Amino acid sequence: MTKLNQLIAISFLLAVPMLNAATYKGQKVYIASCKPCHGGGQELAASKKMRTWEKIMENKGEKLADIHMASKKAQASWEYFSDRKFTKDSRHLEDFLTEYARDSGNVPACN
Ligand code: HEC
Repeated sequence: MTKLNQLIAISFLLAVPMLNAATYKGQKVYIASCKPCHGGGQELAASKKMRTWEKIMENKGEKLADIHMASKKAQASWEYFSDRKFTKDSRHLEDFLTEYARDSGNVPACN
């Protein structure tokens, strides 16, 4: 193996856990804030395409907040979606949702 190949191999090994760390943060947010109503996050993520999630999560999750603020059934989430905490979380959530989007090629783990 040449030095360059070794370097490439090593950076791949490093990149995978880093990617997982970002996704993991979003997954934690999901479990704390969305799971009580929506259940399994990877299933929800897989219900839409990457591009759709990007649109929904644009502008710090503006659309996602709108969907919930417009629904009486989602009333219990109004406080969360109108809070600054959500605008902060939205970036991590987007990482998580696009990571497991239908066209992401990632197969959900069994957990
Ligand atoms: C209090 C319960 C509740 C919580 C918490 C909640 N949701 Fe929802 N969500 C709903 C309800 C109810 C709807 C359906 C709204 C409607 O169409 O009337 C919905 C709709 C959605 C939709 C649109 C569904 C579709 O097929 O287009 C998405 C996406 C979604 N929620 C994601 C999330 C995410 C991500 C979170 C966490 C940040 C979250 N929800 C938190 C209750 C909740």
